[in-house]
Amino acid sequence: MAVTRCVCFRKSLSELKDLAAQRGWTSVDEIAAATGCTTGCGACKPYVAAMLATGATCFAVKRANEELPQACTPDPWDRGA
Ligand code: FES
Repeated sequence: MAVTRCVCFRKSLSELKDLAAQRGWTSVDEIAAATGCTTGCGACKPYVAAMLATGATCFAVKRANEELPQACTPDPWDRGA
């Protein structure tokens, strides 16, 4: 299973990446302030940070020993992610 979105605020990482590029956001705090993403359950926070750091919008579930989640290919049913 891949992580491609903030479930709490219903925004895909692709949407957040596009918004960040359009509005000049470069930090998780800026994305959080504008969209709410990362401020609900917080589970998406490392993935939003990894999206900003790498440009990827699909990640394998982060393992405890990984500093950042690893990019992966979206599942076939989640290609719009
Ligand atoms: S999944 Fe993003 S705040 Fe819960």
